[in-house]
Amino acid sequence: MRDIILKGHRISRNFGGLQALKDVSFEVEQGKIFAIIGPNGAGKTTLFNIISGFDRHFGGEILFMDKVISGLSSHLITRKGIGRTFQNVRLFNNLSVLENVAVGCNGWVSAKLFRSIFGVRSSIREENSIRKYAEEMLQFVGLEKKKDHEVESLPLGEQKLLEIARGLAAKPKLLLLDEPGAGLNEKEMESL
Ligand SMILES: Nc1ncnc2c1ncn2[C@@H]1O[C@H](COP(=O)(O)OP(=O)(O)OP(=O)(O)O)[C@@H](O)[C@H]1O
Ligand SMILES: [Mg+2]
Repeated sequence: MRDIILKGHRISRNFGGLQALKDVSFEVEQGKIFAIIGPNGAGKTTLFNIISGFDRHFGGEILFMDKVISGLSSHLITRKGIGRTFQNVRLFNNLSVLENVAVGCNGWVSAKLFRSIFGVRSSIREENSIRKYAEEMLQFVGLEKKKDHEVESLPLGEQKLLEIARGLAAKPKLLLLDEPGAGLNEKEMESL
């Protein structure tokens, strides 16, 4: 039997008079890479925003691991195990590369510990479980050597890889990548 992790049923979205999505239905199998392709303006990002709870004004239904998630906040959807990256990178420029990844750990780190880390930034260095995991994710995307760099100093391709590391740091069951290859050079693309 096929194991369906994500299911969209007749998803529609209007922006004023513009119908960005009309009755979009799909099923994503567990453990598979599922791609959504289409020209500029086809509605790919709109669909991602809807699945991840960033846009809650849509018609239709979404099921994640057999439970309805449509209508939930982005925060709750993240907690349920759906991570995402953004087409236009959204990183914290005032945090280091490693700290940006550590932010992604907040779903599985206790709220108290998380507050203490970002209340006293230096304590992140002392917090082994987060640091180790964040470093592992940086290694996975090939950015471990840049962990102490400022985010703004990274070229766009590396910022996109950093977003993937941050997304993975949340230990998601499903990761949505919005145009992950845009801005990557040939070598980065290959490793992606
Ligand atoms: N917040 C919004 N308000 C009004 N129109 C919007 C909004 N977001 C998206 N649209 C419109 O909806 C349509 C789908 O846009 P969307 O960004 O989802 O496409 P896309 O497939 O991601 O395109 P691209 O390949 O350029 O990233 C476009 O016509 C876009 O202008
Ligand atoms: Mg898009």
